Amino acid sequence: MYGMKDKAIEKLIQAEAKRQFEGLEMIPSENHTSTDVLKALGSRLTDKYSEGYPGKRYYGGCEFVDQVENLARDRAKKLFGVDHANVQPYSGSPANLAVYFALVDPGDTVMGMHLYYGGHMTHGLKVNFSGTLYHSVQYHTGKDGYLDYDEMAGMVTKEKPKLIFVGATAYPRIFDWKKLRDIADLNKAWLVADISHIAGLVVGGVHPSPVGFADVITTTTHKTLRGPRGAMILCNGNPSSPLKAVERKAENLPTLIDRAIIPGLQGGPHNHQTAAIAVALGEAATPEFKAYAKQIVKNAQTLAKELAGKGYNLVTGGTDNHLLLIDLTNKKIIGAEAEAALGKAGITVNKNTVPFDPRPPFSPSGIRMGTPALTTRGMKESEMVQVAEWIDTAITHSSDEKILNKLSNDIKTLAKQFPLPSDK
Ligand SMILES: Cc1ncc(COP(=O)(O)O)c(C=O)c1O
Repeated sequence: MYGMKDKAIEKLIQAEAKRQFEGLEMIPSENHTSTDVLKALGSRLTDKYSEGYPGKRYYGGCEFVDQVENLARDRAKKLFGVDHANVQPYSGSPANLAVYFALVDPGDTVMGMHLYYGGHMTHGLKVNFSGTLYHSVQYHTGKDGYLDYDEMAGMVTKEKPKLIFVGATAYPRIFDWKKLRDIADLNKAWLVADISHIAGLVVGGVHPSPVGFADVITTTTHKTLRGPRGAMILCNGNPSSPLKAVERKAENLPTLIDRAIIPGLQGGPHNHQTAAIAVALGEAATPEFKAYAKQIVKNAQTLAKELAGKGYNLVTGGTDNHLLLIDLTNKKIIGAEAEAALGKAGITVNKNTVPFDPRPPFSPSGIRMGTPALTTRGMKESEMVQVAEWIDTAITHSSDEKILNKLSNDIKTLAKQFPLPSDK
């Protein structure tokens, strides 16, 4: 299909494409990119070195990659409504690392949501750089699964963090950015919104934007935003701050961020990735994308309603966004077993901790699933009703190979009616 000389790799690429096409990808951080995004990723831009920023490079021959990066930056600024965008972070984790590097010093107190309650590793987990280089204090959700804003406020007053990360990898509800700003202001802390999961929902107008509340916003580009793997750091401030002896104040944020990326952390930007980000941002600015974002949420809410109706215990009782977190304790099955059974049937989800999980993180009580990828394929509410039925059958009959086999065939039949963007 690709006509590659390296048959070993070609075969694996084809096998993965087939797996995606014939199954249902329900990992909420995944999506299916457009053919234009794939074309930009597979272009000659990957050959080019261009350390620095447009107009200020350490390499010659950058006249075209400068234009690519400027387009990506301009589209990001317009789409999110900010005056500065750095599109060079290699991925979400390095983007977050850059923000710490820009705004705090090793040993400073930082705050983030605990991984087991929905946060990301880079938000201060003890075994991550963010929990070893910095004095990390972690906030949680309440028993109801909702972010515990009161606990956060108390922690800020007591621990006096200099920086607070807000954003999640497994949180099904909306963030109240105004409340979070007020909490950060209790200690004049930097508020960093990591909207990696929800960026597509934010630009689609179905999740409130942190712009105007957070000092800095980080996001991956490959989840609901539906771009290539990559990340961006967004902020407002005066981009013409002098480069020397920059004070850590709001007006200097663009300079602090840019310097943290290079020379602070990274070398040459991945120009093919930057071009693909520009393409995705162009796509995300269309009315079709707005409709897509709305449908992601409608689909997730339909799935939530159906599964709740079948006795599934949804953390917070439902969802406002693209994902569901399900505590399987009452179903007498653990997350890993459900993940395996669903996998055999052709539905890819991941095992996940649930708030106050009594089980260890490698064998947690729950599963996490989402609708961005299925929605990209054109699935709507009626398909979600069917998918919920299949999920329930697979979990209820998790060790019945015959039933799982039959499910796998039914799922393939449906999946093939909804091609991936590149197969359309
Ligand atoms: C909230 C959040 N931040 C950051 C990241 C890190 O992104 P990456 O995997 O690209 O390093 C993720 C990825 O899952 C995430 O969910």
